[in-house]
Amino acid sequence: MTKKLFIKTYGCQMNVYDSDRMTDVLAPLGYAPTDIADGADMVILNTCHIREKASEKVFSELGRLRQLKERAADQQGRQVTIAVAGCVAQAEGEEIIRRAPWVDIVVGPQTYHRLPELVGKIDPASRNRIIDTDFPEEVKFDFLPGEHAPRGPAAFLSVQEGCDKFCAFCVVPYTRGAEFSRPVKTVLEEAKRLVASGTRELTLLGQNVNAYHGAHDSGKDWTLGRLIRSLAEVDGLERIRYTTSHPLDMDDELIAVHGDVPQLMPYLHLPIQSGSNHVLQEMNRRHTSDVYLAVIDKLRAIRPDIAMSGDFIVGFPGESDADFAETLALVSKVGYASAYSFKYSPRPGTPAATAEIQVPESVKSERLESLQQLLNAQQFAFNKGTEGKIVDILVERAGGRDGQMAGRSPYMQAVNFIGNPDQIGQIVPCRLSEARQNSMTGDIVNLKGAA
Ligand code: 5AD
Ligand code: SF4
Repeated sequence: MTKKLFIKTYGCQMNVYDSDRMTDVLAPLGYAPTDIADGADMVILNTCHIREKASEKVFSELGRLRQLKERAADQQGRQVTIAVAGCVAQAEGEEIIRRAPWVDIVVGPQTYHRLPELVGKIDPASRNRIIDTDFPEEVKFDFLPGEHAPRGPAAFLSVQEGCDKFCAFCVVPYTRGAEFSRPVKTVLEEAKRLVASGTRELTLLGQNVNAYHGAHDSGKDWTLGRLIRSLAEVDGLERIRYTTSHPLDMDDELIAVHGDVPQLMPYLHLPIQSGSNHVLQEMNRRHTSDVYLAVIDKLRAIRPDIAMSGDFIVGFPGESDADFAETLALVSKVGYASAYSFKYSPRPGTPAATAEIQVPESVKSERLESLQQLLNAQQFAFNKGTEGKIVDILVERAGGRDGQMAGRSPYMQAVNFIGNPDQIGQIVPCRLSEARQNSMTGDIVNLKGAA
């Protein structure tokens, strides 16, 4: 009998990928995915621990799930299994069961391949709880099923995981563990399977994806640049992206690939976090703003239209007004097509959380506001600058309004245009007609007619 599985995903794209793999792993047990929690037999929250707000959301959602579970039991005599996965599960473990004793399973990011086994251990009579937050010897990827449900025209493919950089603010090295790269062969096999099931664009994922150093049969590890060259030879794979990268790992080979692999899209998410060398040092980023700017110069020399994206943290402990002014100056120099910015959020167990000089919340808010104003203006200017251009759009889904379809430009802009569902999965030339803050409208052009 089919059972319904509802997964709610928080946080980064890696979690989106992991949620898909959890669906694959549970399919042989008869679980089929559903879009609504109500009526589901199993609910998984795949959680994010990166900032305090992200973590707290999980506990409020668990409050709602308690009612759902009780209603199902009282009104229908039905058992709903509740699992917490992802980085909050890894970081909080038993604390989750203490605060939310109606949770049945807590499973970390490196053990979710064991979900079938964990589900099998549940005993409704004894109301036992199962916690598995190991960093196991075995590699989960070796235990995930080869078969998977189609993921659509644009899919994620995890190639690297974990991080050894230990930026002073970041929980990732603790929740995801040490850096690990999947062997080249398994990456290529998964890519080919995804393409065979209809995927046209792959985003290679890793917390530090450009540190990729996957084992190759030749005995020599491959870099990300080498991997991208090989993926570009996969028939039917039209577009390649990767995220997220550290400036120190942008080697010359990877930069060169931006110039000579046409499938690699002209967009790069390259976080710097702060424009101040003093703050960068305190953050343990191990590079200066000049190193970062030099990478962008090299990229722009070979791919002048590359759209840059980044991440920023304001109010890191000890950040002065002058430090913050340097962040604004760096943003002005780079000119971002899009960027994410956050108030510093102290994370338990990270070195910066116990620093003596924490920046007051009100100062963080002011700085965030002015940084976001600048970044929003740059994003709008970038979008405006693309008006009138004809670019290829990969059609991904129906758009917001009637008759509209939606996809992404090479520069990662969301584009809405009049089209039809048969176009999903196709790459169509589109004239970008009107810029908005976060998206573009466009019109499909008939190139034959236009020529
Ligand atoms: N506080 C605020 N932002 C953070 N990030 C990571 N850790 C923290 C933190 N403790 C941001 C960084 C990172 C992005 C994924 O989240 O900008 O690049
Ligand atoms: Fe976190 Fe990225 Fe720094 Fe690694 S490189 S510690 S994932 S911010």
